[in-house]
Amino acid sequence: MQRLIIKGGKRLCGEIKVQGAKNSALPLLAGCLLAEGRTVLTRCPELSDVFTACRILNELGCKCSFRDNTAVTDTSGAEGFCISEALMREMRSSIVFMGAVLGRTGKCELSYPGGCELGPRPIDMHITALRQLGVKISEEHGRISCVCPKGIRGAVIDLPFPSVGATENIMLAAVCGEGETLIRNAAREPEIRDLAALLNRCGADIRGAGCSTIRINGVKSLHGCEYEVMPDRIAAATYMAAAATTGGELGLLGVNCEDVRAVTAVFEEMGAAVYCPENSIFISCARPLRAVRMIRTMPYPGFPTDAQAVVMAALATARGSSMIAENIFECRYRHVDELVRMGADIKTSGRTAVIQGVSRLYGANVMAHELRGGAALVAAALGAEGMTAVSGVQYIDRGYEQIERAFGSLGADIRRAFG
Ligand code: UD1
Repeated sequence: MQRLIIKGGKRLCGEIKVQGAKNSALPLLAGCLLAEGRTVLTRCPELSDVFTACRILNELGCKCSFRDNTAVTDTSGAEGFCISEALMREMRSSIVFMGAVLGRTGKCELSYPGGCELGPRPIDMHITALRQLGVKISEEHGRISCVCPKGIRGAVIDLPFPSVGATENIMLAAVCGEGETLIRNAAREPEIRDLAALLNRCGADIRGAGCSTIRINGVKSLHGCEYEVMPDRIAAATYMAAAATTGGELGLLGVNCEDVRAVTAVFEEMGAAVYCPENSIFISCARPLRAVRMIRTMPYPGFPTDAQAVVMAALATARGSSMIAENIFECRYRHVDELVRMGADIKTSGRTAVIQGVSRLYGANVMAHELRGGAALVAAALGAEGMTAVSGVQYIDRGYEQIERAFGSLGADIRRAFG
């Protein structure tokens, strides 16, 4: 069992290049399946979830290799349409391959994605939308079989909620379909823009990505290209939280400030100085920080649910009382009990959390139950007094490239312990 051992209290200082976005790399890799020949994705983060996506591609007959943050896919001969249950279970986002496989082969067989640490995560919107595109879907014993006898046909799809994954699946399925597809109430997350930009570079005709209405004109085929994965806005939020817990001063390089506006606004309200020259963010935090009134997680451009936990870690020692309403996922406060072990004063009731800032947190043995909650424990531990051991590191590794090396380079006392 691996653990992160952190001796808190070191003020973080320095500059760091932010990794490529996990939540973009996964749908981009699925998108590569649709491009004939070779596609090169640069700034691809070296993460266990990215490797799982590569294994799915390989299982489908696509050659996918990964080296030095570059994934290279070659789809010649990629005729597979079944994704094994073992790979589906490894990560929830494997569901985004459904649209891509359908777009490529006109059929797809897969199982429900793995159980999720954030509460129930149904895929009803994905299924309803794909049916509207002409896909016949049957489900038996957890296995989903899809065929489209007449091919994918453009349709007008009104999403009941701007689901990120459903929007991506529709784009991937429809991009090489027949006619025009309109997605209304589409997710507007920057990762959607990134997927459209990759597909357009491969020859697709997608307009409006990043807005609520996306228009896709089906094209006959896509060709390979070279594309750079967008920066990870949630990793950026995590560094900001660590700057806040340690009273540090960090420069985050290669991030689009606009994409994290809702998060920087919260840190500014806490009293941090944030400066955003082109493609970077400089944040300076003089402690103690102030509590904030109310954070509501919302679809983009609202405050991202993925940044909720790390910002909570920063608020745990802010002066005053803060409140968070988690509106996206039902079960996203599993880090709270662990922060409380470290001395935080946080109470939850349903979707609401009330954080009464304490003067300091103390090192403890804590457990990550999921990715972002795990990152929150690391951010809290970096500012805490004494030693913290964070277990459940495999969750953190899903989203952060060698987190101990990244924070170590900024002056943190952090190491990975094996066994
Ligand atoms: C993506 C992100 C995840 C982020 C989330 C919200 C990836 C790999 N993951 O997840 O990190 O937290 O967006 O920004 O990009 N829902 C349904 N039915 C559906 C689909 C979704 O009820 O068919 C619900 C979900 O249970 C959830 C909400 O809609 O409550 C948002 O989900 P969605 O936007 O689809 O998130 P994901 O794409 O799963």
